[in-house]
Amino acid sequence: MPASSPTRPLAGAWNDTTRPAAERADALVKAMTQAEKLQYVHGFFPPMVKPAAPDMIPSAGYVPGVPRLGIPTLRESDASLGVANQVEQRKGDVATALPASLATAASFDPAIAYAGGAMIGKEARAKTFNVLLAGGVNLTRDAWNGRNFEYLGEDPLLTGIMGGASIRGVQSNHIVSTIKHFVLNSQETGRAILDAKIDPTALRESDLLAFEIAIAEGKPGSVMCAYNRIDGDYACENKVLLTDVLRGDWKYPGFVMSDWGAVHSTEKAANAGLDQESGQELDSKMFFGAPLADAVKAGRVSTARLDQMVHRILTGVIASGLYDDPTPATAQPIDYAAHAEVAQRAAEAGIVLLKNDGDVLPLARTARSIVVIGGHADVGVLSGGGSSQVRSVGGAPIEIPLTSGAAASFARVTYHASSPLRAIRAIAPQAKVMFVDGSDPAAAAAAARAADIAIVFATHWQTEAQDAPSLSLPDNQDAVIDAVAAANRHTVVVLETGGPVLMPWVARVPAIVEAWYPGQRGGEAIARVLFGDVDASGRLPISFPRTIDQLPRPRPVVSPTGGTDNDASANAGAGDAAALPSYPVEYREGADVGYRWYATRKDHPLFPFGFGLGYAKMQIGKPRFTGAAGTPGKADITVTFDVTNRGKRSGTVVPQLYATLPGGGAPRLVGWARRSIDAGQTTSMTITADPRALARWEKSGWRIGGGAYALTLATDAEHPVSSGSVTLSARALEPGSAALDTH
Ligand code: BGC
Repeated sequence: MPASSPTRPLAGAWNDTTRPAAERADALVKAMTQAEKLQYVHGFFPPMVKPAAPDMIPSAGYVPGVPRLGIPTLRESDASLGVANQVEQRKGDVATALPASLATAASFDPAIAYAGGAMIGKEARAKTFNVLLAGGVNLTRDAWNGRNFEYLGEDPLLTGIMGGASIRGVQSNHIVSTIKHFVLNSQETGRAILDAKIDPTALRESDLLAFEIAIAEGKPGSVMCAYNRIDGDYACENKVLLTDVLRGDWKYPGFVMSDWGAVHSTEKAANAGLDQESGQELDSKMFFGAPLADAVKAGRVSTARLDQMVHRILTGVIASGLYDDPTPATAQPIDYAAHAEVAQRAAEAGIVLLKNDGDVLPLARTARSIVVIGGHADVGVLSGGGSSQVRSVGGAPIEIPLTSGAAASFARVTYHASSPLRAIRAIAPQAKVMFVDGSDPAAAAAAARAADIAIVFATHWQTEAQDAPSLSLPDNQDAVIDAVAAANRHTVVVLETGGPVLMPWVARVPAIVEAWYPGQRGGEAIARVLFGDVDASGRLPISFPRTIDQLPRPRPVVSPTGGTDNDASANAGAGDAAALPSYPVEYREGADVGYRWYATRKDHPLFPFGFGLGYAKMQIGKPRFTGAAGTPGKADITVTFDVTNRGKRSGTVVPQLYATLPGGGAPRLVGWARRSIDAGQTTSMTITADPRALARWEKSGWRIGGGAYALTLATDAEHPVSSGSVTLSARALEPGSAALDTH
């Protein structure tokens, strides 16, 4: 195993920082030997390497560099929520845990996403990692998808903007971020064998659009291809996606790395556009390395293609700043206290107030007695499972291994040590604050009856590699909520979930708060929102169904030949899954994902996309809609309006602009703004429609159609404030720049 050594690298044209990354990569490729090139296009999964190289951390990935040319060893770690350390070998390691990405998306605030990315990128670098496997941007097509908490919701514009901001933050540390999982890894059940089927135009206008926007905004050094097949071909050997779309249409110059265990061939994958095999020990066999050397020798993969693979990796490495600013050889100190603040701000900004009848919230500090019930709120907050799991700074007060299921080998139910109970006691020191564990509805009700206020914490755990078996709260929690609500009129339910859950008790509970998986300062963030120290300002990035029958697919699609959602080999991405027969999963809703699905069916979810209440009383004035009639260089559509805070506290508004394109169809989110306004103040706001959300994919390019655009200024996908219309003349939309070194 070659390890990087401290020899002084050769100087050459590749050091000329005034040249574009691609030119510098050219020079390096020319200086590399064939063996060095072959070594850089495949990576190890360190926990399975025996003996490990001296500089190997048992994390997700390791690709030895070429010290004589200054080409860095790639040291890779998961993920979007923090520097993951779930692997058994890194038991003592801790890192700062952000809230779930879905919570960050709920902030509708790209600055929050950027700050989170910058913080976790800084930690990654200080821990000597230089590739962060971040940037999860798969659209939520199914409410029960086990990884929804790692993604950014159901809308391509929101996902693209927030994902791009987070990636930009990560890479501001001169390390590479991925964007993943390209594409349509939309359910975990059978993820290694399923064949996702969708109309190609619909794919362009939904999941691919999210990637296209996030790549243009974030300029990730690498794209990670997914486990599943798309239209017959595995994502990591899919020429249409990896070459025609990514390189042809988007001109993406960075590298494609595989997901771990997602490679199934040598020449098919290499010739389709896969540049680097990751975690080769998890594939059924090694496909690059020696087999690739043979394929190049035999001319089945051209030398030019091998050069191109290396060139693309180096372009990502140079453009991110990593080549010129290598990561330290040894771990550096981390300001965990400052980073915890970043995590807390993100959690606070993403908490969504779903219901607040009779202004039960915010709670008064003068409350005499409060009972906190369930959800292990005495010790911590829940986090999602899988490769993104962060063992956070305060440790894990609860860690329950799984005994069965596809995720059993690498996920466990884990809580961060941020106790809402403790945080509530700290905010309201004069109140008597009791805790009951919520295992017995009658005991919970008795405690609630004796208190002024009852706060029930309800949890729904989700994990990579498994979809949620049900959208109902497990372990009798619905019965506890019903019993408590019947016993106390001032009942608040706080949900810690990785996505939507069913709420059969919704009409009987006056106040409901969605806190998601709120990260390592979740307890403090929840308490501050409950007491109104910060406004409840999150908005749903995902629709909450009333019943599962409203969904395009009420349950995960399982293999007709027996792969179930507990079939480890069909789920865990293990290479031997290739031996199992593939099966189709059809996305007939096409681009009408989430709120657009409800709109086309004239159906209504329980809580719509974009929805969230606040504590202030915001009044949005009459808007002025303006269209630039296709004038080049001018915004196509803007809306301007005043917002007045008529309440007694400062608060946050998140007005949203939806458009129905000429030719009809479901409305699309085309822009939004987020602003804090002090009590009694009026502010003028403008939302500019993002042209990428106004365009349609027409055969080989994006086009803004000529005609009338019906516009709605709204507080969410179902609550319009005002409507209008503008007429635009048709124009082609130039592809966004995917160039990586234009920061
Ligand atoms: C996940 C990826 C992750 C990789 C490395 C896979 O199981 O799908 O998101 O980056 O493992 O840990």
